[in-house]
Order: sequence, then C-alpha cells, then structure tokens
Amino acid sequence: MEYDVIIPAAGSGTRMGAGKNKLLLELNERPIILHTLEVFAGEPDCSKMIVVIQPKEEKIFREMTVGSPYEKKLAFVYGGAERQHSVYNGLKAVSTGIVLVHDGARPFIRRPVIKQLVSEAVRSGAAIAAVPVKDTIKQAVDHEVVQTIDRSSLWQVQTPQAFRLPILQQAHEWARAEGYLGTDEASLVEKKGDISIKIIKSDYDNIKITTPEDLYFARAILEKRAQ
Ligand code: C5P
Repeated sequence: MEYDVIIPAAGSGTRMGAGKNKLLLELNERPIILHTLEVFAGEPDCSKMIVVIQPKEEKIFREMTVGSPYEKKLAFVYGGAERQHSVYNGLKAVSTGIVLVHDGARPFIRRPVIKQLVSEAVRSGAAIAAVPVKDTIKQAVDHEVVQTIDRSSLWQVQTPQAFRLPILQQAHEWARAEGYLGTDEASLVEKKGDISIKIIKSDYDNIKITTPEDLYFARAILEKRAQ
C-alpha cells in the first residue's frame, strides 16, 4: 500500500549540545538524516519523503540530497516552533491515503516494522512502533518515590507512527483548536478519543539519537549491522 512519510528534521538539537542540528552530525562519515532517508528511499511503497526543515538549513539539506537516487521522492517543507507544528506543516504536503511520521533522528528503523505499521494502519486506522518497557518504573515527586508502576502493560513508544490520513489530519486540527501539545502523533489521536491505536512491536535498537552518548550507541549499532 502506497504511503507518504513525514520526516520532522527541524529541531535545534539542544539536548545534543553540538551547537547545530544533530541530524547533520555524522555517523560513518554521513549525516544522520541521510541514514534515515535511505531507509525510506529503498521502500517501493513509499511515494514521497516530506522532510520538514528549518528555512535557514534549506540550502544544506538540498545540497546534501541533490543528485541522490531518491531526489525525486523528496519534498521539503518548513517546520514550526515545536515538533507537532512541524508535523502539521508536513501534513499539508501529503498526497496518499496512508501517512507515516518518522523522526529524522531514528535512522535504525527496520523495514519489516514499517511494513507491519502500514498494514495495520490500512486495517484499523492507526499503528505505532513500540517496545516493552524493560526497566522498573517509579513515579517520584522532588526525587522522592511515590509509587512503582506495574510495567507489564507499559510500552516505550517510538516512530514510525502510521495513520489513515483523515485520522491524523483531524487529530492535528483538534489539537490546534484545543491548544493541546503532545510529544507524538498518537497522543493527539488518543486525546481526540474516537479511534483505537494498535502497537507494533519494534526493536530496541531503533533509538532516537538525542544526547551525546546516543552517538556511541549509534556507532555500535552500525558496526553490528555491518557484520
Ligand atoms: O528533539 P527531538 O529529538 O525529540 O525531536 C524529534 C524530531 O523532531 C527530530 O528529528 C527533530 O529534528 C524534529 N523536530 C522538528 N521541529 C521542531 C522540533 C523537533 O522537526 N520544532
């Protein structure tokens, strides 16, 4: 089933502390964002990669991808102040019935997970990648433990997140009208409250490169996959 993917890439990377967009940092001598784009570039069902960028970085992104075999699949859209606003802007460029949202900072997503997400979104409307929580989770206030949360039903949520287009469009419009800001797309769909969201079990190595130590993990993952 054909789909477009929105790839938010307009963050400033404050938590990485690199002084620039973390997606432009290199992994194996190539910017992180290119690793992410190449996954979807190789997906025959992916018709368009809508990369959401900051206007000041447009030249860098265009130069980085010009002449690439997947250049024709790319569309660039300007982002907003928060990730949610960036995705909202990206939605306007979608021209397929199924849409995926995938953070530019997750270059290790595996194709079978993408395929399952798309199938489930076609079937039931919304599907997200996630892994079961491994650690013991405690709630605390001012560093004082309040309670231990039963982890047996907890999932750590990743991207991609896949939706039938009208479901995500309506959720974003609802969030805008309500002034609700979520940290992922599914939370908007949940809050709007009228459809169920399915979980597709993903991989623990589908990490989001966020802080400096994630670059060490990322290099280790690349090395392992090259073996
Ligand atoms: O900061 P964080 O890693 O959670 O951001 C997730 C993704 O959203 C990143 O790929 C980042 O570039 C993107 N983003 C965006 N627009 C923003 C903030 C973040 O496209 N305003």
